[in-house]
Amino acid sequence: MAGWFITFEGVEGSGKSTQIRLAGDLLQELGLPFVLTQEPGGTPLGERIREILLNRGDFDISGEAEMFLFAAARAQHTDAVIRPALEAGKIVLCDRFTDATIAYQAYGRGLSLESVREVCRMASRGLAPHLTLLFDLPVETGLERAFRRIAGREGNLREDRFERERLDFHRRIREGYLAIARQEPGRVKIIDASGGIEPTRQEVQSLLSAFLGV
Ligand SMILES: Nc1ncnc2c1ncn2[C@@H]1O[C@H](COP(=O)(O)OP(=O)(O)OP(=O)(O)O)[C@@H](O)[C@H]1O
Ligand SMILES: [Mg+2]
Repeated sequence: MAGWFITFEGVEGSGKSTQIRLAGDLLQELGLPFVLTQEPGGTPLGERIREILLNRGDFDISGEAEMFLFAAARAQHTDAVIRPALEAGKIVLCDRFTDATIAYQAYGRGLSLESVREVCRMASRGLAPHLTLLFDLPVETGLERAFRRIAGREGNLREDRFERERLDFHRRIREGYLAIARQEPGRVKIIDASGGIEPTRQEVQSLLSAFLGV
């Protein structure tokens, strides 16, 4: 595959969505062809699943059901958006991917790591990012930011189902992400996300420039 697949990962409010937009601006300036997309989402099916997963409804979602819903969204997204863009030689910037499922559903929810990995492999048919930027910060800082954003939203689509989980759930997710980074230091680059938007952007820019050789 000709393009580069780059994912943005981290706990709630770590700045993924902010920084992926800025990274898109950078690629635009550099004149490099890219696609900016997100999980869950990225396709009409994925956006419907996103609504179910990220908002609080009047029904329960078990850990397994949650994993399969993320996987279903990913299967569609990988086939319909990510692979075609990579085959066309584009850079794909994706807000969350398989590492999020491993961190949230295995480390966070406590599902078996092997099962989650296998489901993820099936969903993406083995597609893995070439580079992953892991935005790391204390979960309290991220949640504070996330709740400020949530407070600005109205109605039932606040996307706050995960944010409202207990603190220890978020801490396990952070640890899960850091464990993944330790296992795959070549692919996963840890970025200190506790500072301001601009210093974080600069760190992202230098990692991306080095990776892309520009
Ligand atoms: N470095 C920063 N310092 C302070 N505030 C920030 C910083 N980066 C982002 N924010 C703000 O914090 C909020 C959360 O940021 P953002 O949406 O980028 O995080 P996220 O990682 O995508 O969160 P989520 O996991 O909930 O999607 C936003 O309102 C954003 O403007
Ligand atoms: Mg986001």
